[in-house]
Amino acid sequence: MEDLTPLATRRLPTKWLGRPLVLKAETGSTNDDARTAAQAGAASGLTIVADSQTSGRGRRGRSWHSPPGDSLYLSVVVRSSMRPDVAPLLTLAAGLAVRDAVAHFVAPERVTIKWPNDVRIDRKKVAGILVEGAIRGDALAYAVLGIGLNVRGASLPDELRERATTLRIARGADIARPEVLCALLVALESRIDAVVRAPAEIVGEVSRCCDTLGTEVQIDGVAGRAESLSPTGGIVIVTAAGERVEMRSGEIVEVA
Ligand code: BTN
Repeated sequence: MEDLTPLATRRLPTKWLGRPLVLKAETGSTNDDARTAAQAGAASGLTIVADSQTSGRGRRGRSWHSPPGDSLYLSVVVRSSMRPDVAPLLTLAAGLAVRDAVAHFVAPERVTIKWPNDVRIDRKKVAGILVEGAIRGDALAYAVLGIGLNVRGASLPDELRERATTLRIARGADIARPEVLCALLVALESRIDAVVRAPAEIVGEVSRCCDTLGTEVQIDGVAGRAESLSPTGGIVIVTAAGERVEMRSGEIVEVA
Protein backbone atom coordinates (compact mmCIF):
# COMPACT_ATOMS: atom_id res chain seq x y z
CA MET A 1 0.00 0.00 0.00
CA GLU A 2 2.84 2.42 0.87
CA ASP A 3 4.00 2.40 -2.75
CA LEU A 4 0.61 3.76 -3.86
CA THR A 5 0.13 6.35 -1.10
CA PRO A 6 2.10 9.22 -2.75
CA LEU A 7 -0.29 9.07 -5.69
CA ALA A 8 -3.13 10.50 -3.61
CA THR A 9 -1.33 13.83 -3.34
CA ARG A 10 0.66 13.80 -6.57
CA ARG A 11 -0.59 15.88 -9.49
CA LEU A 12 -1.73 13.41 -12.09
CA PRO A 13 -1.27 14.24 -15.77
CA THR A 14 -5.01 13.92 -16.37
CA LYS A 15 -7.77 16.50 -16.88
CA TRP A 16 -10.72 14.89 -15.15
CA LEU A 17 -10.02 11.25 -14.40
CA GLY A 18 -8.50 10.43 -11.01
CA ARG A 19 -9.86 13.68 -9.61
CA PRO A 20 -10.22 12.95 -6.84
CA LEU A 21 -8.21 9.76 -6.37
CA VAL A 22 -9.25 7.89 -3.22
CA LEU A 23 -6.88 5.22 -1.90
CA LYS A 24 -8.08 2.50 0.46
CA ALA A 25 -5.97 -0.14 2.17
CA GLU A 26 -8.95 -2.51 2.15
CA THR A 27 -12.55 -2.35 1.00
CA GLY A 28 -15.36 -4.70 0.04
CA SER A 29 -15.46 -3.82 -3.66
CA THR A 30 -14.27 -0.62 -5.30
CA ASN A 31 -17.18 -0.95 -7.75
CA ASP A 32 -19.63 -0.87 -4.85
CA ASP A 33 -17.84 2.13 -3.32
CA ALA A 34 -17.88 4.00 -6.63
CA ARG A 35 -21.55 3.21 -7.21
CA THR A 36 -22.46 4.46 -3.72
CA ALA A 37 -20.49 7.64 -4.42
CA ALA A 38 -22.16 8.08 -7.83
CA GLN A 39 -25.60 7.65 -6.29
CA ALA A 40 -24.65 10.37 -3.79
CA GLY A 41 -23.74 12.68 -6.69
CA ALA A 42 -19.99 12.12 -7.19
CA ALA A 43 -18.68 13.82 -10.32
CA SER A 44 -17.24 12.08 -13.36
CA GLY A 45 -13.64 11.13 -12.71
CA LEU A 46 -13.83 10.00 -9.09
CA THR A 47 -11.46 7.06 -8.87
CA ILE A 48 -11.25 4.58 -6.02
CA VAL A 49 -8.16 2.40 -5.75
CA ALA A 50 -7.85 -0.35 -3.15
CA ASP A 51 -4.85 -2.39 -2.10
CA SER A 52 -7.17 -5.31 -1.33
CA GLN A 53 -10.86 -6.20 -1.61
CA THR A 54 -12.81 -8.56 0.61
CA SER A 55 -15.72 -9.01 -1.84
CA GLY A 56 -14.14 -8.21 -5.22
CA ARG A 57 -16.58 -9.02 -8.02
CA GLY A 58 -16.07 -10.27 -11.54
CA ARG A 59 -18.58 -10.60 -14.34
CA ARG A 60 -21.55 -12.91 -14.08
CA GLY A 61 -21.50 -13.01 -10.30
CA ARG A 62 -18.03 -14.51 -10.07
CA SER A 63 -15.75 -13.35 -7.28
CA TRP A 64 -12.45 -11.57 -7.98
CA HIS A 65 -9.68 -12.75 -5.68
CA SER A 66 -8.13 -9.51 -4.38
CA PRO A 67 -5.23 -10.03 -1.95
CA PRO A 68 -3.06 -7.03 -0.93
CA GLY A 69 0.32 -5.91 -2.22
CA ASP A 70 0.62 -6.93 -5.84
CA SER A 71 -2.35 -5.98 -8.00
CA LEU A 72 -4.41 -2.93 -8.89
CA TYR A 73 -8.13 -2.83 -8.10
CA LEU A 74 -9.80 0.37 -9.18
CA SER A 75 -13.15 1.83 -10.16
CA VAL A 76 -13.92 5.08 -11.95
CA VAL A 77 -17.22 7.00 -12.00
CA VAL A 78 -18.08 8.15 -15.52
CA ARG A 79 -20.93 10.49 -16.37
CA SER A 80 -21.55 11.05 -20.02
CA SER A 81 -24.23 12.05 -22.46
CA MET A 82 -23.95 8.70 -24.21
CA ARG A 83 -26.97 6.52 -24.93
CA PRO A 84 -27.19 3.30 -22.89
CA ASP A 85 -26.90 1.17 -26.02
CA VAL A 86 -23.35 2.39 -26.60
CA ALA A 87 -22.34 1.72 -23.00
CA PRO A 88 -20.69 -1.58 -24.04
CA LEU A 89 -18.13 0.61 -25.79
CA LEU A 90 -16.97 1.69 -22.34
CA THR A 91 -15.90 -1.88 -21.63
CA LEU A 92 -13.95 -1.96 -24.88
CA ALA A 93 -12.45 1.48 -24.21
CA ALA A 94 -11.31 0.32 -20.76
CA GLY A 95 -9.78 -2.79 -22.36
CA LEU A 96 -7.86 -0.62 -24.83
CA ALA A 97 -6.68 1.62 -22.00
CA VAL A 98 -5.38 -1.38 -20.05
CA ARG A 99 -3.68 -2.56 -23.22
CA ASP A 100 -2.11 0.90 -23.72
CA ALA A 101 -0.79 0.87 -20.14
CA VAL A 102 0.46 -2.72 -20.26
CA ALA A 103 2.16 -2.08 -23.60
CA HIS A 104 4.52 0.35 -21.85
CA PHE A 105 6.04 -2.68 -20.15
CA VAL A 106 5.72 -5.57 -22.62
CA ALA A 107 5.72 -5.61 -26.42
CA PRO A 108 2.30 -4.43 -27.68
CA GLU A 109 1.89 -7.36 -30.07
CA ARG A 110 1.80 -9.71 -27.06
CA VAL A 111 -1.21 -7.86 -25.59
CA THR A 112 -4.68 -8.72 -26.88
CA ILE A 113 -8.31 -8.27 -25.89
CA LYS A 114 -10.56 -11.25 -25.43
CA TRP A 115 -14.00 -9.82 -26.16
CA PRO A 116 -15.53 -8.19 -24.28
CA ASN A 117 -13.62 -7.64 -21.09
CA ASP A 118 -10.36 -9.55 -20.68
CA VAL A 119 -6.92 -8.20 -21.47
CA ARG A 120 -4.40 -10.93 -22.15
CA ILE A 121 -0.66 -11.23 -22.55
CA ASP A 122 0.43 -14.22 -24.63
CA ARG A 123 -3.23 -15.34 -24.41
CA LYS A 124 -3.19 -15.40 -20.60
CA LYS A 125 -5.51 -13.09 -18.68
CA VAL A 126 -3.72 -10.19 -17.00
CA ALA A 127 -6.76 -7.97 -16.35
CA GLY A 128 -10.54 -8.10 -16.12
CA ILE A 129 -13.05 -5.30 -16.54
CA LEU A 130 -16.47 -4.95 -14.95
CA VAL A 131 -18.59 -2.04 -16.18
CA GLU A 132 -21.83 -1.42 -14.32
CA GLY A 133 -24.22 1.43 -14.79
CA ALA A 134 -27.55 2.97 -14.16
CA ILE A 135 -30.04 4.20 -16.72
CA ARG A 136 -32.34 7.17 -16.16
CA GLY A 137 -34.95 7.62 -18.86
CA ASP A 138 -33.13 6.93 -22.10
CA ALA A 139 -29.73 8.13 -20.91
CA LEU A 140 -26.90 6.61 -18.95
CA ALA A 141 -27.10 8.23 -15.51
CA TYR A 142 -23.60 7.05 -14.65
CA ALA A 143 -21.28 4.14 -15.25
CA VAL A 144 -18.72 2.58 -12.97
CA LEU A 145 -15.67 1.15 -14.71
CA GLY A 146 -13.98 -1.46 -12.55
CA ILE A 147 -10.57 -2.86 -13.44
CA GLY A 148 -8.54 -5.58 -11.78
CA LEU A 149 -4.97 -5.79 -13.12
CA ASN A 150 -2.38 -8.35 -12.02
CA VAL A 151 0.85 -6.37 -11.69
CA ARG A 152 3.58 -7.54 -9.32
CA GLY A 153 2.75 -11.13 -8.46
CA ALA A 154 5.81 -13.32 -9.02
CA SER A 155 3.81 -16.54 -9.19
CA LEU A 156 0.23 -17.74 -9.51
CA PRO A 157 -1.60 -20.69 -7.95
CA ASP A 158 -1.37 -23.92 -10.00
CA GLU A 159 -5.02 -23.73 -11.09
CA LEU A 160 -4.49 -20.27 -12.63
CA ARG A 161 -1.04 -20.66 -14.16
CA GLU A 162 -2.34 -22.03 -17.47
CA ARG A 163 -4.80 -19.21 -18.16
CA ALA A 164 -3.65 -16.16 -16.17
CA THR A 165 -0.50 -14.13 -15.78
CA THR A 166 0.86 -11.00 -14.14
CA LEU A 167 2.72 -8.08 -15.69
CA ARG A 168 5.81 -9.07 -13.74
CA ILE A 169 5.75 -12.67 -14.97
CA ALA A 170 5.17 -11.54 -18.57
CA ARG A 171 7.91 -8.93 -18.39
CA GLY A 172 10.35 -11.09 -16.48
CA ALA A 173 11.21 -8.23 -14.12
CA ASP A 174 9.66 -6.41 -11.19
CA ILE A 175 7.43 -3.49 -11.91
CA ALA A 176 6.22 -0.51 -9.85
CA ARG A 177 2.46 -0.28 -9.28
CA PRO A 178 2.36 3.56 -9.30
CA GLU A 179 3.93 3.65 -12.76
CA VAL A 180 1.35 1.21 -14.06
CA LEU A 181 -1.51 3.05 -12.36
CA CYS A 182 -0.43 6.43 -13.76
CA ALA A 183 -0.14 5.03 -17.28
CA LEU A 184 -3.54 3.41 -16.87
CA LEU A 185 -5.33 6.55 -15.65
CA VAL A 186 -3.92 8.64 -18.51
CA ALA A 187 -4.90 6.02 -21.08
CA LEU A 188 -8.36 5.55 -19.54
CA GLU A 189 -9.14 9.25 -19.74
CA SER A 190 -8.17 9.42 -23.38
CA ARG A 191 -10.03 6.24 -24.36
CA ILE A 192 -13.21 7.20 -22.47
CA ASP A 193 -13.20 10.62 -24.14
CA ALA A 194 -12.95 8.82 -27.48
CA VAL A 195 -16.13 6.81 -26.80
CA VAL A 196 -18.18 10.00 -27.28
CA ARG A 197 -15.90 11.75 -29.79
CA ALA A 198 -14.94 8.83 -32.03
CA PRO A 199 -16.74 5.58 -31.18
CA ALA A 200 -15.77 4.02 -34.51
CA GLU A 201 -12.11 4.51 -33.58
CA ILE A 202 -12.61 2.41 -30.42
CA VAL A 203 -14.30 -0.37 -32.38
CA GLY A 204 -11.63 -0.25 -35.08
CA GLU A 205 -8.75 -0.41 -32.62
CA VAL A 206 -10.25 -3.23 -30.59
CA SER A 207 -10.92 -5.14 -33.83
CA ARG A 208 -7.20 -4.98 -34.61
CA CYS A 209 -6.11 -6.46 -31.26
CA CYS A 210 -9.09 -8.71 -30.44
CA ASP A 211 -7.98 -12.34 -30.23
CA THR A 212 -11.60 -13.55 -30.27
CA LEU A 213 -12.23 -12.53 -33.89
CA GLY A 214 -11.82 -15.31 -36.39
CA THR A 215 -12.20 -18.01 -33.74
CA GLU A 216 -15.08 -20.38 -33.00
CA VAL A 217 -17.01 -19.23 -29.99
CA GLN A 218 -20.08 -20.04 -27.98
CA ILE A 219 -21.66 -17.08 -26.27
CA ASP A 220 -24.86 -17.50 -24.27
CA GLY A 221 -25.86 -20.54 -26.29
CA VAL A 222 -25.03 -19.08 -29.72
CA ALA A 223 -22.21 -20.95 -31.45
CA GLY A 224 -20.27 -19.93 -34.52
CA ARG A 225 -17.33 -17.97 -35.85
CA ALA A 226 -16.71 -14.54 -34.35
CA GLU A 227 -16.66 -12.38 -37.44
CA SER A 228 -16.49 -8.72 -36.42
CA LEU A 229 -17.44 -6.13 -33.85
CA SER A 230 -20.58 -4.08 -34.31
CA PRO A 231 -20.62 -0.26 -34.13
CA THR A 232 -21.95 -0.41 -30.57
CA GLY A 233 -19.36 -2.88 -29.31
CA GLY A 234 -21.21 -6.16 -29.75
CA ILE A 235 -19.71 -9.16 -31.47
CA VAL A 236 -21.14 -10.59 -34.67
CA ILE A 237 -21.20 -14.37 -34.83
CA VAL A 238 -21.78 -16.35 -38.01
CA THR A 239 -23.52 -19.61 -37.11
CA ALA A 240 -23.09 -22.94 -38.93
CA ALA A 241 -26.37 -22.16 -40.74
CA GLY A 242 -24.85 -18.91 -42.06
CA GLU A 243 -26.96 -16.70 -39.82
CA ARG A 244 -25.36 -13.52 -38.45
CA VAL A 245 -26.15 -12.92 -34.78
CA GLU A 246 -24.98 -9.92 -32.78
CA MET A 247 -24.22 -10.58 -29.12
CA ARG A 248 -24.08 -7.56 -26.84
CA SER A 249 -21.64 -6.89 -24.05
CA GLY A 250 -21.72 -4.72 -20.98
CA GLU A 251 -23.68 -5.17 -17.83
CA ILE A 252 -26.28 -2.58 -16.91
CA VAL A 253 -27.26 -4.12 -13.61
CA GLU A 254 -29.61 -1.62 -12.07
CA VAL A 255 -32.14 1.00 -13.02
CA ALA A 256 -31.87 4.29 -11.14
C1 BTN B 1 -13.88 -10.08 -14.76
O1 BTN B 1 -12.92 -10.40 -15.47
O2 BTN B 1 -14.79 -10.89 -14.49
C2 BTN B 1 -13.98 -8.66 -14.24
C3 BTN B 1 -13.16 -8.46 -13.00
C4 BTN B 1 -13.24 -7.05 -12.47
C5 BTN B 1 -12.54 -6.90 -11.15
C6 BTN B 1 -12.44 -5.47 -10.70
S1 BTN B 1 -11.32 -5.25 -9.35
C7 BTN B 1 -11.87 -3.61 -9.14
C8 BTN B 1 -13.37 -3.62 -9.34
N1 BTN B 1 -14.05 -3.96 -8.09
C9 BTN B 1 -14.69 -5.13 -8.17
O3 BTN B 1 -15.33 -5.65 -7.24
N2 BTN B 1 -14.53 -5.66 -9.38
C10 BTN B 1 -13.73 -4.81 -10.25
